[in-house]
Amino acid sequence: MALNEQKETLTLHTYFPTVVGVGINPDHKAVEEKLTNKCLEIRKKVKKGGKDWLAEDTYTTLNTYDLCKDPDFSTVNDFVVSQVIEYCKANSIDLNCLNTNPVGAWLNIYKKNNFQEWHTHGNAMISVSYYLKCNDSSAKIYFKHPVLDTMAPKILSYNHLNCEQVWVQPKPGTALIFRSYLYHCVAHQKNDDTRICLSYNFRRKYD
Ligand SMILES: [Fe+2]
Repeated sequence: MALNEQKETLTLHTYFPTVVGVGINPDHKAVEEKLTNKCLEIRKKVKKGGKDWLAEDTYTTLNTYDLCKDPDFSTVNDFVVSQVIEYCKANSIDLNCLNTNPVGAWLNIYKKNNFQEWHTHGNAMISVSYYLKCNDSSAKIYFKHPVLDTMAPKILSYNHLNCEQVWVQPKPGTALIFRSYLYHCVAHQKNDDTRICLSYNFRRKYD
């Protein structure tokens, strides 16, 4: 609709929404236990990555163990790729510009009091968080509004039009797909259970 066709005194148009895809793996139950045990085994053997993280106690294999090279993770990896393709289709992103091979995939294990600070995924186009193991009280992931507001108005009641950040309660077998520039963080893990998340980065393919 063109702006000059407007009849009401004021209507609200949302032009630049932040799009997070949510994909649910129907086959998750079949792999959860095996891959959870595999992740815990990796933790015992593989040096921790994320050397610049403020969350230095959170175990991650960022740059130390690539899940794409481990055939045990292939079914989840394939599911994640399929969801990234669907995300691209839903956003009219040209699939010819997507490198469907993740450029990195790593695991993150959150024990009690572990967290991760606000961050983006540099040098990537699309990122995914896949929840391998968690429960209803596991630490939430937060996403931040991509615009840095230098004089934020006082908001009387938050809704989808004016929120500055949103949280998602992770569910096992769920993949969150988002553009890599989007700031996100993980709250402190408060319970004694282990929260395991698999992370993926996808890059653009140039002509
Ligand atoms: Fe991240």
